[in-house]
Amino acid sequence: MDIIFRIDPISHRLQGKVKVPGDKSIAHRAAIFASLAQGRSIITNAAPGGDFESTLRCLAAMGTRIERKGDTVSLEGCGLAEPQDVLDAGNSGTTARLLCGALAGAGVYAVITGDSSLRRRPMSRVINPLREMGANITGRCQGRFAPVTICPAHLRGVEHVLPVASAQVKSSLLLAGLMADGATTVIEPWKSRDHTERLLPAFGAHIEVNGTSVQIHPGILHPADIDVPGDFSSAAFFIAAACTIPGSELMVEGVGLNPTRTGLLEVLRRMGAEVEVKSRGGVEPAGECWVRNPGVHGTDIMPDEIPSVLDEIPVLSCVAAVAEGTTRILGASELRVKETDRLEAIRVNLSTLGARVEVEGDSLIITGVGQLKGGRVRSFGDHRIAMAMAVAALNARAPVEIDDVSCIDISYPGFFQDLASLVGVST
Ligand code: S3P
Repeated sequence: MDIIFRIDPISHRLQGKVKVPGDKSIAHRAAIFASLAQGRSIITNAAPGGDFESTLRCLAAMGTRIERKGDTVSLEGCGLAEPQDVLDAGNSGTTARLLCGALAGAGVYAVITGDSSLRRRPMSRVINPLREMGANITGRCQGRFAPVTICPAHLRGVEHVLPVASAQVKSSLLLAGLMADGATTVIEPWKSRDHTERLLPAFGAHIEVNGTSVQIHPGILHPADIDVPGDFSSAAFFIAAACTIPGSELMVEGVGLNPTRTGLLEVLRRMGAEVEVKSRGGVEPAGECWVRNPGVHGTDIMPDEIPSVLDEIPVLSCVAAVAEGTTRILGASELRVKETDRLEAIRVNLSTLGARVEVEGDSLIITGVGQLKGGRVRSFGDHRIAMAMAVAALNARAPVEIDDVSCIDISYPGFFQDLASLVGVST
């Protein structure tokens, strides 16, 4: 059922502390690596949303014994056994693409599908390089889309030069490399999020990182316990909102501060926001983040910066829509192949709310209008578009209705409750 959420124009400054749920990129990886290992791994502060559930469901279907108590998940790994039925990755591109790599050399027959959004997203970006390694893998429309079929094959290590920076593709190929003969190398044009490179060694993998090049050697994994930091991409909605609303003072606790994910902080600083972080370091650095709003102005986000702000562009666009001057987000073509075409979704929604937004090729040009007007916007079934629109709504002078917010449960089931407690209203 479509759930419409309405936000009224009251004083919406954000005040206080928030702790967001565990990072879903890290949780997916920890669970997949744990399933490949022999023995018990424990993941604490696991992601609560539907995407991580999809990963657990697929892994359970391949023989991993999984027990979940709240946000602690125990996985008894034993490698990936042939599933009895089609694997359903739901809305999760990370689940589908990483499993393609993990299954390519696993010696089993498997089919991976997903919901209507996932079945429209490009799978050739993993299928083609996996075939170069010898994988017997194909998909609908000559290997372009899911459902994807994988048959047993013998893999060999290959050097892959990726045309776009993609953590899902990189991770898929590295997982295949674990089961290949010889070393596998992945070279990206720019560095995408590096959770796979950071976490796999904790499970015993042999990985070398050199700039944007990552090399993996074949080997077996052993179990590991992983404590997942808060998801920076979830915290981003509150951080961005606090930057746009005068009088806000926000602290985010226990949030992931991996530099390949936190490009938003640098962009917000350039826009004039006061942002401070204190990181405790670790395999996956985490810590606290404080934000205050002294008024924001436009900036340019260049193509090499896109990977570090990739999932934050919808909410960054909402900041740009109320900032002084023009913000140009250049070379953001990857947004067209996310859960929806995010460039188009941003253009349609922010235009409805009175912002000046143009899409020029793969770039977004947004001229801020100070305050937005009210209206009805759409989530397009995309969790990050829905949450970004809530941030836009906080900056509107009339009520904003967001159509179909149920998709938020994919990554952040308690989003509206946490937002309400920061702005001091009850949901
Ligand atoms: C993810 C990688 C990113 C990101 C997605 C999660 C991951 O996609 O957009 O939400 O967990 O590896 P890319 O594969 O385009 O980097």
